[in-house]
Amino acid sequence: MNVFVLYHLLLALTQMFGASFRQASQCRMMHFKCRGGFYPRAENTVARFPVPDEKIHWDIDYPEYKPTNYTAAHIKGQSWADPEISHPSFHPQWNQLDGNVNRKSHVGVYKIENLFPLNPVGRTGVCGRGCLGRWGPNHAADPIVTRWKRTSNNEIELHSTSEKKILQFVAIQRRDTREWAIPGGMVDPGEVVTTTLKREFFEEALDALGRKPEQLNEADAIVAKFFESGETVYKGYVDDPRNTDNAWMETVAVNFHDETGLSVGKLPLSAGDDAVNVRWMDVGKDLELYASHIEFIEAVAEKRNSHW
Ligand SMILES: *[C@@H]1O[C@H](CO)[C@@H](O)[C@H](O)[C@H]1NC(C)=O
Repeated sequence: MNVFVLYHLLLALTQMFGASFRQASQCRMMHFKCRGGFYPRAENTVARFPVPDEKIHWDIDYPEYKPTNYTAAHIKGQSWADPEISHPSFHPQWNQLDGNVNRKSHVGVYKIENLFPLNPVGRTGVCGRGCLGRWGPNHAADPIVTRWKRTSNNEIELHSTSEKKILQFVAIQRRDTREWAIPGGMVDPGEVVTTTLKREFFEEALDALGRKPEQLNEADAIVAKFFESGETVYKGYVDDPRNTDNAWMETVAVNFHDETGLSVGKLPLSAGDDAVNVRWMDVGKDLELYASHIEFIEAVAEKRNSHW
């Protein structure tokens, strides 16, 4: 058996027994939300250098390419942000766990060019870090908390045309862009993803800080139990408007489903600091959500065979 045959055999086996969740394949992915137009929420106008579809990948020559160099002023000197690449005290360990900062990518080994890590999908029209704290991957976690839509008699409602059950997920309206989103957030240094998922949901959708202690205890116990069993629906690169050529978002999206509606499904929601609104939102293909959140929601709808 030659190497070629062996390679394809292994590939087929990986696909059969491999991960049941979606994992972005590294090289031929495209990104849309971090190309063209302007960098979001910059203190001045920061125009992205144009990158046509066929010029995204680094292996395609693009000699005219002159990305706009932009790192937001507000991230400089922050404890959660890296220093400049050239800073004498900065010795990043790329593609590995660097102290308690995870610089490993979910999509594989990323390249380093002239000291700078390269976006694994390709060109974005902006170099530098934009408003992201880390050079290279910036790790987030997105808890997708779902329940079935029910009538006032507490019966599961079926959609009038598809006659399928309707999934609802906890959505927050972001304070910054006013877009609806999954209540996710950044993985803190040294934190395990399962902790991030629970912490972010607590902070953003149950407003842990604004609650009375007696309510908190009950919610705390319910949420802790509920967050013990989740199913990963996506792990990889995020097509995020903040991405640059040298810094990008990656996430692990995990579905936590309340089948009976008696657990987290009955807790009163309350928007936390980073959100202006929170609610149970019906799942369907017409939703307009932040970054590539719609794709994670679609994966959950598929998994649960709900109306789409
Ligand atoms: C971008 O600007 C910073 C700070 O002015 C500089 O250190 C860095 O080398 C520049 N990056 C590129 C790719 O030119």
